[in-house]
Amino acid sequence: MAKPAGEQLVCVTGGGGFIGSSLVMELLQRGYTVRSTARNPEDRKNAHLHSLDGAQERLSLCRADVLDYTSLCFAFSSCDGVFHVAFPVSDNDPELMAVAIDGTKNVINAAADMGVQRVVFTSSYGAVHTNPNRNPDQVVDESCWSDLEFCLKIKNFYCYAKTVAEKTAMEEASRRGIHLLVVVPSLTLGEMLQPKLNLGIELLIVSYMKGKKAYPNTVSGYVDVQDVARAHVLVYEPPLRMDATSALAQWYTGRSLFK
Ligand SMILES: NC(=O)c1ccc[n+]([C@@H]2O[C@H](COP(=O)([O-])OP(=O)(O)OC[C@H]3O[C@@H](n4cnc5c(N)ncnc54)[C@H](OP(=O)(O)O)[C@@H]3O)[C@@H](O)[C@H]2O)c1
Repeated sequence: MAKPAGEQLVCVTGGGGFIGSSLVMELLQRGYTVRSTARNPEDRKNAHLHSLDGAQERLSLCRADVLDYTSLCFAFSSCDGVFHVAFPVSDNDPELMAVAIDGTKNVINAAADMGVQRVVFTSSYGAVHTNPNRNPDQVVDESCWSDLEFCLKIKNFYCYAKTVAEKTAMEEASRRGIHLLVVVPSLTLGEMLQPKLNLGIELLIVSYMKGKKAYPNTVSGYVDVQDVARAHVLVYEPPLRMDATSALAQWYTGRSLFK
Protein backbone atom coordinates (compact mmCIF):
# COMPACT_ATOMS: atom_id res chain seq x y z
CA MET A 1 0.00 0.00 0.00
CA ALA A 2 1.55 3.31 -1.11
CA LYS A 3 1.97 6.06 1.46
CA PRO A 4 -0.46 9.02 1.25
CA ALA A 5 0.85 12.06 -0.66
CA GLY A 6 1.28 14.01 2.57
CA GLU A 7 3.86 11.47 3.78
CA GLN A 8 5.86 11.27 0.56
CA LEU A 9 9.04 13.03 -0.54
CA VAL A 10 9.42 13.17 -4.32
CA CYS A 11 12.14 14.64 -6.51
CA VAL A 12 11.54 16.57 -9.74
CA THR A 13 14.58 16.96 -12.01
CA GLY A 14 14.58 20.31 -13.78
CA GLY A 15 11.76 21.64 -11.58
CA GLY A 16 12.57 25.24 -12.51
CA GLY A 17 11.68 24.80 -16.20
CA PHE A 18 8.31 25.30 -17.90
CA ILE A 19 6.78 21.84 -17.35
CA GLY A 20 8.85 21.20 -14.22
CA SER A 21 7.47 24.31 -12.47
CA SER A 22 3.86 23.33 -13.15
CA LEU A 23 4.60 19.83 -11.90
CA VAL A 24 6.21 21.15 -8.69
CA MET A 25 3.10 23.33 -8.15
CA GLU A 26 0.76 20.37 -8.75
CA LEU A 27 2.68 18.13 -6.35
CA LEU A 28 2.74 20.82 -3.63
CA GLN A 29 -1.01 21.36 -4.07
CA ARG A 30 -1.58 17.64 -3.57
CA GLY A 31 0.40 17.65 -0.30
CA TYR A 32 3.71 16.11 -1.40
CA THR A 33 7.03 17.28 -0.02
CA VAL A 34 9.10 18.14 -3.09
CA ARG A 35 12.82 18.33 -3.82
CA SER A 36 13.49 20.07 -7.11
CA THR A 37 16.85 19.81 -8.84
CA ALA A 38 18.56 22.62 -10.71
CA ARG A 39 22.09 22.91 -11.98
CA ASN A 40 22.26 26.23 -10.14
CA PRO A 41 19.57 26.49 -7.45
CA GLU A 42 20.64 30.06 -6.61
CA ASP A 43 20.00 31.30 -10.15
CA ARG A 44 17.19 33.89 -10.15
CA LYS A 45 15.41 31.87 -12.83
CA ASN A 46 14.45 29.38 -10.07
CA ALA A 47 13.27 31.97 -7.51
CA HIS A 48 9.59 31.67 -8.55
CA LEU A 49 9.48 28.17 -7.04
CA HIS A 50 9.86 29.60 -3.53
CA SER A 51 6.60 31.57 -3.83
CA LEU A 52 4.42 28.60 -4.79
CA ASP A 53 1.75 27.67 -2.22
CA GLY A 54 3.28 25.24 0.28
CA ALA A 55 6.85 25.89 -0.89
CA GLN A 56 8.02 27.47 2.35
CA GLU A 57 7.11 24.33 4.30
CA ARG A 58 7.55 21.54 1.75
CA LEU A 59 9.90 22.52 -1.10
CA SER A 60 13.68 22.37 -1.24
CA LEU A 61 16.03 22.99 -4.13
CA CYS A 62 18.98 20.74 -4.68
CA ARG A 63 21.97 21.18 -6.97
CA ALA A 64 22.19 18.33 -9.48
CA ASP A 65 23.25 17.72 -13.05
CA VAL A 66 21.95 14.61 -14.77
CA LEU A 67 25.48 14.03 -16.08
CA ASP A 68 26.74 13.81 -12.48
CA TYR A 69 25.60 10.51 -10.94
CA THR A 70 26.71 11.44 -7.41
CA SER A 71 24.67 14.66 -7.44
CA LEU A 72 21.59 12.62 -8.44
CA CYS A 73 22.14 10.13 -5.59
CA PHE A 74 22.14 13.05 -3.17
CA ALA A 75 18.99 14.50 -4.78
CA PHE A 76 17.12 11.17 -4.69
CA SER A 77 18.13 10.05 -1.18
CA SER A 78 15.09 9.22 0.99
CA CYS A 79 12.72 9.91 -1.94
CA ASP A 80 9.62 7.81 -2.58
CA GLY A 81 9.43 8.75 -6.26
CA VAL A 82 11.33 10.60 -8.98
CA PHE A 83 9.90 12.68 -11.82
CA HIS A 84 12.59 12.98 -14.48
CA VAL A 85 11.67 16.08 -16.47
CA ALA A 86 15.07 17.72 -17.13
CA PHE A 87 16.27 17.74 -20.71
CA PRO A 88 17.84 20.32 -23.04
CA VAL A 89 14.99 21.34 -25.34
CA SER A 90 17.15 22.21 -28.31
CA ASP A 91 18.47 20.81 -31.56
CA ASN A 92 21.98 22.03 -30.98
CA ASP A 93 22.80 21.72 -27.28
CA PRO A 94 26.29 20.18 -27.13
CA GLU A 95 25.15 17.95 -24.24
CA LEU A 96 22.02 16.67 -26.01
CA MET A 97 23.09 13.08 -26.66
CA ALA A 98 25.04 12.78 -23.41
CA VAL A 99 21.94 13.82 -21.46
CA ALA A 100 19.78 11.44 -23.53
CA ILE A 101 21.96 8.39 -22.92
CA ASP A 102 24.30 8.89 -19.94
CA GLY A 103 21.92 11.28 -18.17
CA THR A 104 18.99 8.88 -18.48
CA LYS A 105 21.09 5.95 -17.27
CA ASN A 106 22.35 8.04 -14.36
CA VAL A 107 18.81 8.97 -13.31
CA ILE A 108 17.49 5.39 -13.41
CA ASN A 109 20.57 3.96 -11.68
CA ALA A 110 20.72 6.65 -9.01
CA ALA A 111 17.01 6.08 -8.33
CA ALA A 112 17.54 2.31 -8.06
CA ASP A 113 20.63 2.73 -5.86
CA MET A 114 18.75 5.10 -3.55
CA GLY A 115 15.85 2.64 -3.17
CA VAL A 116 13.35 4.61 -5.26
CA GLN A 117 10.91 2.23 -6.93
CA ARG A 118 8.88 4.47 -9.20
CA VAL A 119 10.22 6.88 -11.81
CA VAL A 120 8.02 9.00 -14.06
CA PHE A 121 9.86 9.91 -17.26
CA THR A 122 8.88 12.92 -19.37
CA SER A 123 9.19 11.85 -22.98
CA SER A 124 7.80 13.76 -25.95
CA TYR A 125 5.65 13.18 -28.97
CA GLY A 126 8.94 13.90 -30.75
CA ALA A 127 9.85 10.35 -29.78
CA VAL A 128 6.73 9.06 -31.57
CA HIS A 129 5.65 11.11 -34.56
CA THR A 130 8.75 11.65 -36.68
CA ASN A 131 8.24 8.75 -39.03
CA PRO A 132 7.51 9.34 -42.73
CA ASN A 133 6.63 5.69 -43.34
CA ARG A 134 3.62 5.60 -41.02
CA ASN A 135 0.12 6.21 -42.35
CA PRO A 136 -0.91 9.64 -40.96
CA ASP A 137 -4.31 8.17 -40.03
CA GLN A 138 -2.78 5.46 -37.85
CA VAL A 139 -3.57 5.73 -34.17
CA VAL A 140 -0.21 5.80 -32.43
CA ASP A 141 0.48 3.76 -29.31
CA GLU A 142 3.39 2.38 -27.30
CA SER A 143 4.66 0.43 -30.29
CA CYS A 144 5.20 3.59 -32.36
CA TRP A 145 8.57 5.31 -32.43
CA SER A 146 10.17 8.08 -34.43
CA ASP A 147 12.44 6.80 -37.18
CA LEU A 148 15.99 7.50 -35.99
CA GLU A 149 17.55 7.54 -39.46
CA PHE A 150 14.87 9.95 -40.68
CA CYS A 151 15.43 12.23 -37.64
CA LEU A 152 19.12 12.44 -38.56
CA LYS A 153 18.33 12.99 -42.23
CA ILE A 154 16.13 16.01 -41.47
CA LYS A 155 18.55 17.14 -38.72
CA ASN A 156 15.89 16.91 -36.02
CA PHE A 157 18.40 16.04 -33.32
CA TYR A 158 15.94 16.78 -30.49
CA CYS A 159 13.46 14.12 -31.71
CA TYR A 160 16.37 11.74 -32.22
CA ALA A 161 17.60 12.36 -28.68
CA LYS A 162 14.16 12.04 -27.04
CA THR A 163 13.57 8.72 -28.85
CA VAL A 164 16.92 7.38 -27.69
CA ALA A 165 16.30 8.72 -24.17
CA GLU A 166 12.92 7.01 -23.78
CA LYS A 167 14.28 3.70 -25.09
CA THR A 168 17.27 4.00 -22.75
CA ALA A 169 14.97 4.69 -19.80
CA MET A 170 12.88 1.60 -20.59
CA GLU A 171 15.90 -0.67 -20.98
CA GLU A 172 17.66 0.59 -17.88
CA ALA A 173 14.49 0.52 -15.74
CA SER A 174 13.79 -3.04 -16.80
CA ARG A 175 17.39 -4.03 -15.98
CA ARG A 176 17.24 -2.36 -12.53
CA GLY A 177 13.69 -3.39 -11.59
CA ILE A 178 12.36 0.18 -11.55
CA HIS A 179 8.65 0.76 -12.21
CA LEU A 180 8.85 3.28 -15.04
CA LEU A 181 5.90 5.39 -16.12
CA VAL A 182 6.25 7.47 -19.27
CA VAL A 183 4.31 10.63 -20.08
CA VAL A 184 4.34 11.69 -23.74
CA PRO A 185 3.27 15.33 -24.05
CA SER A 186 2.70 16.95 -27.40
CA LEU A 187 3.62 20.62 -27.95
CA THR A 188 2.94 22.17 -24.58
CA LEU A 189 1.42 25.61 -24.09
CA GLY A 190 -0.17 27.44 -21.16
CA GLU A 191 0.76 29.55 -18.17
CA MET A 192 4.47 30.10 -17.65
CA LEU A 193 5.34 30.12 -13.96
CA GLN A 194 9.05 30.58 -14.64
CA PRO A 195 10.60 33.92 -15.62
CA LYS A 196 12.87 32.50 -18.34
CA LEU A 197 11.19 31.93 -21.69
CA ASN A 198 11.32 28.26 -22.72
CA LEU A 199 11.96 27.40 -26.35
CA GLY A 200 8.49 25.96 -27.00
CA ILE A 201 6.63 29.13 -25.93
CA GLU A 202 9.21 31.26 -27.71
CA LEU A 203 8.72 29.45 -31.03
CA LEU A 204 4.98 28.82 -30.78
CA ILE A 205 3.75 32.11 -29.28
CA VAL A 206 6.34 34.85 -28.84
CA SER A 207 7.81 34.66 -32.32
CA TYR A 208 4.30 35.31 -33.77
CA MET A 209 3.68 38.17 -31.32
CA LYS A 210 6.93 39.66 -32.57
CA GLY A 211 5.69 39.58 -36.14
CA LYS A 212 6.57 36.20 -37.59
CA LYS A 213 4.03 35.73 -40.37
CA ALA A 214 4.27 32.11 -41.49
CA TYR A 215 3.55 28.92 -39.59
CA PRO A 216 4.15 25.37 -40.79
CA ASN A 217 1.30 23.95 -42.87
CA THR A 218 0.88 20.87 -40.67
CA VAL A 219 -1.45 19.41 -38.08
CA SER A 220 0.13 19.28 -34.62
CA GLY A 221 -0.93 18.16 -31.18
CA TYR A 222 -1.05 20.74 -28.40
CA VAL A 223 -1.68 20.33 -24.69
CA ASP A 224 -1.97 22.65 -21.70
CA VAL A 225 0.95 22.58 -19.29
CA GLN A 226 -1.32 22.03 -16.26
CA ASP A 227 -2.76 18.91 -17.92
CA VAL A 228 0.78 17.68 -18.53
CA ALA A 229 1.60 18.24 -14.85
CA ARG A 230 -1.59 16.45 -13.73
CA ALA A 231 -0.83 13.52 -16.06
CA HIS A 232 2.55 13.07 -14.39
CA VAL A 233 0.90 12.82 -10.98
CA LEU A 234 -1.97 10.61 -12.19
CA VAL A 235 0.36 7.99 -13.65
CA TYR A 236 2.42 8.11 -10.46
CA GLU A 237 -0.43 7.76 -7.98
CA PRO A 238 -2.25 4.49 -7.42
CA PRO A 239 -5.01 3.47 -8.04
CA LEU A 240 -5.10 5.57 -11.22
CA ARG A 241 -1.55 4.58 -12.11
CA MET A 242 -1.28 3.20 -15.63
CA ASP A 243 1.32 0.68 -16.65
CA ALA A 244 1.66 2.07 -20.12
CA THR A 245 2.57 5.32 -21.68
CA SER A 246 0.20 8.24 -21.22
CA ALA A 247 0.02 10.35 -24.36
CA LEU A 248 -1.39 13.82 -24.32
CA ALA A 249 -2.66 15.92 -27.17
CA GLN A 250 -5.43 17.95 -28.62
CA TRP A 251 -4.92 18.19 -32.37
CA TYR A 252 -4.93 21.50 -34.17
CA THR A 253 -3.72 22.80 -37.47
CA GLY A 254 -1.42 25.79 -37.27
CA ARG A 255 -4.29 27.81 -38.80
CA SER A 256 -6.85 26.98 -36.10
CA LEU A 257 -4.36 27.42 -33.25
CA PHE A 258 -3.52 30.96 -34.23
CA LYS A 259 -7.09 32.09 -35.02
N1 LIG B 1 7.66 22.21 -23.88
C1 LIG B 1 7.16 21.28 -24.71
O1 LIG B 1 6.41 21.61 -25.67
C2 LIG B 1 7.47 19.82 -24.47
C3 LIG B 1 6.72 18.85 -25.17
C4 LIG B 1 6.98 17.51 -24.96
C5 LIG B 1 7.95 17.13 -24.06
N2 LIG B 1 8.69 18.07 -23.39
C6 LIG B 1 9.69 17.60 -22.44
O2 LIG B 1 9.41 18.17 -21.18
C7 LIG B 1 10.61 18.39 -20.45
C8 LIG B 1 10.68 19.82 -19.99
O3 LIG B 1 10.59 20.68 -21.11
P1 LIG B 1 10.34 22.24 -20.93
O4 LIG B 1 9.69 22.75 -22.14
O5 LIG B 1 9.72 22.51 -19.59
O6 LIG B 1 11.85 22.77 -20.96
P2 LIG B 1 12.62 23.91 -20.15
O7 LIG B 1 11.70 24.95 -19.61
O8 LIG B 1 13.72 24.35 -21.04
O9 LIG B 1 13.22 23.11 -18.92
C9 LIG B 1 14.24 22.18 -19.12
C10 LIG B 1 14.86 21.86 -17.77
O10 LIG B 1 15.87 20.88 -17.97
C11 LIG B 1 16.95 21.19 -17.14
N3 LIG B 1 18.20 20.63 -17.71
C12 LIG B 1 18.66 20.73 -18.96
N4 LIG B 1 19.82 20.09 -19.06
C13 LIG B 1 20.10 19.57 -17.83
C14 LIG B 1 21.16 18.80 -17.28
N5 LIG B 1 22.25 18.44 -18.00
N6 LIG B 1 21.10 18.43 -15.97
C15 LIG B 1 20.05 18.81 -15.22
N7 LIG B 1 19.03 19.55 -15.67
C16 LIG B 1 19.06 19.92 -16.97
C17 LIG B 1 16.98 22.70 -17.03
O11 LIG B 1 17.48 23.00 -15.75
P3 LIG B 1 18.58 24.10 -15.43
O12 LIG B 1 17.88 25.12 -14.63
O13 LIG B 1 19.58 23.39 -14.64
O14 LIG B 1 19.10 24.66 -16.73
C18 LIG B 1 15.50 23.06 -17.10
O15 LIG B 1 14.94 23.19 -15.82
C19 LIG B 1 11.75 17.95 -21.38
O16 LIG B 1 12.08 16.61 -21.06
C20 LIG B 1 11.12 18.04 -22.76
O17 LIG B 1 11.75 17.17 -23.66
C21 LIG B 1 8.46 19.41 -23.58
